[in-house]
Amino acid sequence: MNRIQAAVAGGIGRPGVAAALRRWVADDTRVKRLLTARRWMSRAYFEARYLVPDPWRLATSSYERRRFQASMDMLAGRRYGCALEVGCGEGIFTVLLRDRCDHVVALDFSSLAVRRARRRLAGTPGVEVRSLDVRVADPGGAFDLIFCAELFYYMSRREFDDVAARMVRWVAPGGDLCLVHGTSVHDAGPRADGAGAIGEMSARAIHDRFCRAPDLSVIHDRRLPRYRLTLLRRLEAPRG
Ligand SMILES: C[S@@+](CC[C@H](N)C(=O)[O-])C[C@H]1O[C@@H](n2cnc3c(N)ncnc32)[C@H](O)[C@@H]1O
Repeated sequence: MNRIQAAVAGGIGRPGVAAALRRWVADDTRVKRLLTARRWMSRAYFEARYLVPDPWRLATSSYERRRFQASMDMLAGRRYGCALEVGCGEGIFTVLLRDRCDHVVALDFSSLAVRRARRRLAGTPGVEVRSLDVRVADPGGAFDLIFCAELFYYMSRREFDDVAARMVRWVAPGGDLCLVHGTSVHDAGPRADGAGAIGEMSARAIHDRFCRAPDLSVIHDRRLPRYRLTLLRRLEAPRG
């Protein structure tokens, strides 16, 4: 644990500063609106969130457990060769995903999250954790499954459009793309352009964009009260 982490954990330094930092990076609409102002800002935001381990309580929250189960149910019936998880965080869902896939490439742009994911998955064969910002680089190769949860609303519209177009091409012919994004906050008060109350992106704008992609067909599109889950499949051969 470095000095900043120790300070935030309350071990050393001024507790008032650590508490203020924790408040600043807590899930807050003002912070999220700032995220897309500069490219580096969203990465700095996530690094700050990960100063505290498991910032979204994925390992302990019953809501998150149900969301993970609903995500796995979405994938039921298929076993995948090589999967890509985009925005894997500390690798908590990656452990479940590995049960359905022969090989998983899990990536994230937060160095703290990647370090913890590597530690968590160290004894799990067939998992590779990579540090990568999908706004600036491709993972390389084609994947039988791409899984992406709670990621895109931290991007600007322009970044999202670019990543979405490239991500469709990362899906192997006949492969699946699974998206999961929360709706209760992000779709509140949608504007005519589909943007939500937080940032520019909403689950509706994100999932609808992929559902319109000409090379993908919608297999399932579940709109639950708090999140939307969509499973899309890439055609064996491009249309047209
Ligand atoms: C809200 S967390 C969601 C974590 C996990 N996917 C889940 O569903 O609980 C978003 C994750 O995406 C990562 N992330 C955000 N933007 C990214 C980018 N451009 N490239 C790679 N990872 C990114 C963050 O570091 C963070 O771990």
